[in-house]
Amino acid sequence: MKKQKPNNLHIRLYGDKTLREIAKPVIEFTNEIKNFIDDLTFTMYEKDGVGLAAPQVGKSLRIFVVDPFWFNEEGKKNPLVLVNPEFKELRGEIESEEGCLSLPRIFESVQRAKTVIIEALNEKGKKVRYEADGLFSRALQHEYDHLDGILFIDKIPKLKLLFLKKRLHDLQRTTDENGRNIGELSL
Ligand code: NI
Repeated sequence: MKKQKPNNLHIRLYGDKTLREIAKPVIEFTNEIKNFIDDLTFTMYEKDGVGLAAPQVGKSLRIFVVDPFWFNEEGKKNPLVLVNPEFKELRGEIESEEGCLSLPRIFESVQRAKTVIIEALNEKGKKVRYEADGLFSRALQHEYDHLDGILFIDKIPKLKLLFLKKRLHDLQRTTDENGRNIGELSL
């Protein structure tokens, strides 16, 4: 059965426990997984993101979607779904500013590999391989980190983190007693 309309999922903010878990690999491409991938993709565009990982919507699975170019290609959408991704190569170093839907209004410079080669399964379970540079490479590394419970603020200097302390504390305070945070837009 095909679902009619994808759901706009809640984004988990900093403080949510799912964001800090090691996500589990996908074993089988069930209808539930396929529908979830549709929802994840839909949500990424609804939230104006260039990437979104499953843990960011509270699902601890090794799935993410990226589309680093849609906002400068006249809105043409070309989502790339990566399931159980694995880096085959990471080359060079480059620093650039990043943000994250789970850390609203925080932007910091992060050091990443310049060029990457990644292999994964796509939404149909077919093997895909990408060599990426620039924003594409950065998005792949940022989203991959989410699958290992890593956030970009983990990669910035301690002093910069200190300046973000209050903001992070405010975000964290919106998490409920079950470690669930469904995104307070007023923050
Ligand atoms: Ni992120």
